[in-house]
Amino acid sequence: MKSLIDKLETNHTLSKDEFVQLIQNHTSEDAQHLFERARCLRQKHFGTAVFLRGLIEISSYCHNDCLYCGIRHSNATAERYRLTDEQILSCCAQGHALGFRTFVMQGGEDSKFTDERMVALIRQIKQQYPDSAITLSLGERKRDSYQRMFEAGADRYLLRHETANAEHYGQLHPSWMSHAKRMQCLQDLKEIGYQVGTGFMVGSPFQTAEHLAEDLMFIAQFQPAMVGIGPYIPHHATPFADQPAGTVEQTLFLLGILRVMMPQLLLPATTALGTMDPQGREKGLMAGANVIMPNLSPADDRSKYMIYDNKLATGAESAEGLTELNRIIESVGYHVEQSRGDAPSHIDH
Ligand code: 5AD
Repeated sequence: MKSLIDKLETNHTLSKDEFVQLIQNHTSEDAQHLFERARCLRQKHFGTAVFLRGLIEISSYCHNDCLYCGIRHSNATAERYRLTDEQILSCCAQGHALGFRTFVMQGGEDSKFTDERMVALIRQIKQQYPDSAITLSLGERKRDSYQRMFEAGADRYLLRHETANAEHYGQLHPSWMSHAKRMQCLQDLKEIGYQVGTGFMVGSPFQTAEHLAEDLMFIAQFQPAMVGIGPYIPHHATPFADQPAGTVEQTLFLLGILRVMMPQLLLPATTALGTMDPQGREKGLMAGANVIMPNLSPADDRSKYMIYDNKLATGAESAEGLTELNRIIESVGYHVEQSRGDAPSHIDH
């Protein structure tokens, strides 16, 4: 298996069969070798830097109905909230004072966040914090909407592809959503000029090693600036409540593969990883991750953004826990970098 890992490092991709083999048949020794290569490459391109992004969860309303997600429209028991512009700006003010230089506005697909409102908000944030990057994560919108928000000053957009296999995509999503549409959105975002983040859940219902191989091949071809992956975690009020969760081990292995495949990638150690394992974040960093996204949302609303059960909202996941987060990051030999942390390929943007 070591030769496949070396081949991945040289060629920046593998065939589908090779990816499947690597995912299915690796030993824990192979995993250790992969993580060593991942750490070495990350050191080469980023030194010991870990980038922080301040996450602001602007709305838990969602007109969509993804079968795995706790804030899906059909979940009548989900608590809904929507931040005001003042609340969002106050999150940015707090975050900026704490040293954050990227604000991620993430939310369900909420039609109350119109293009006009987003454009005004983006302009205001950019005017007040010209040294900071704005990332949006608002799901599928029209190309024109992406374009207007980009022109208003948004720099980056996160939209996970969820699965590169169209049939699997259909199993995870309501009938009106389509894999082709998701791919079109990603293409639009890239053409407009966003630094695009994509990604998928590890261990999502019905996922096979072949699906994961297709996810990796898609990423190798699409060349996103960032890839967010985390274990699937069931939410009790969804159709997938009884589906088993993904594992921390498999998530770490895939983080390692992604780092070796694309050494310059921005790769977050996600909240889902921290939720599954108290040491998940540290393990993620040791497997090749180099981004952490602490929560800047108002504490009262944080528990309402429950996309899966027991989602972490305090401690090192939160902006208040910054001292703790620094300690964790330094305990594994890294340091927090106080900059926008642009993708190396977009440094002049
Ligand atoms: N478990 C893990 N991740 C989830 N997401 C949504 N629901 C879950 C869940 N139950 C992920 C999806 C989505 C992102 C915002 O969160 O990949 O794109």
